[in-house]
Amino acid sequence: MSRDLKIAAAREALGFVEDGMKLGIGTGSTADEFIRLLAEKIKDGLNIVGVPTSERTASLCDELGVPLATLEEMPQLDLTVDGADEVDRKLDLIKGGGGALLREKIVAAASQRMVVIADSSKMVDVLGAFPLPIEVNRFGLTATRIAVERASGALGLAGEIRLRGGEDSPFVTDGGHLILDASFGRIRDASALSTALLGVPGVVQHGLFIGMASAVVIARPAGIEVKSSNR
Ligand code: A5P
Repeated sequence: MSRDLKIAAAREALGFVEDGMKLGIGTGSTADEFIRLLAEKIKDGLNIVGVPTSERTASLCDELGVPLATLEEMPQLDLTVDGADEVDRKLDLIKGGGGALLREKIVAAASQRMVVIADSSKMVDVLGAFPLPIEVNRFGLTATRIAVERASGALGLAGEIRLRGGEDSPFVTDGGHLILDASFGRIRDASALSTALLGVPGVVQHGLFIGMASAVVIARPAGIEVKSSNR
């Protein structure tokens, strides 16, 4: 997505932010644009406190003067604004391309509303063209990978499951875990896959965000569309 579209989506999402809000702040290049615009508003007098969904987001917020608290200090949030890798018609998502899915999901679940910012290329009929990030414990990695293959295979899903970063220098999440990227292709029953994956002991969390987004701001060259759910 061009930077202009990311900025356009981020600017629209700023309209959901109200003075005094406790805000979950997402991760990724689109969320970064939101942080930059938010910082400008704060300089103009907007009063919010943010909870970052990653160390990367925390650094950018610190750099730009966005006041932060931990989720421990503010366990209930008004709104989270975050990007996504895929969005379907029901506003279910795949997230975790940036590796922050665990904190993103914890923060979104602690928020009354989640607004997703994306461009139209992220809109899909069925989730799964983007490889599904699955955050796993380092312990028992191979056993977990086999168990993930079995659990997804039982649902008719197959495809390459790659350790992000490779065996020699795997990507490590903020929580100290690893990520398996699963190229399942079309995921027809995301809820069933979610349940199956969470049944694998070594799986910490996965990037399917089902029933979590309240609204999605979609930026197109022709303009902005906001799709809302009743969450
Ligand atoms: C971070 O872990 C992800 O969930 C991001 O929200 C997602 O990858 C979107 O990132 P971009 O805005 O960079 O496309």
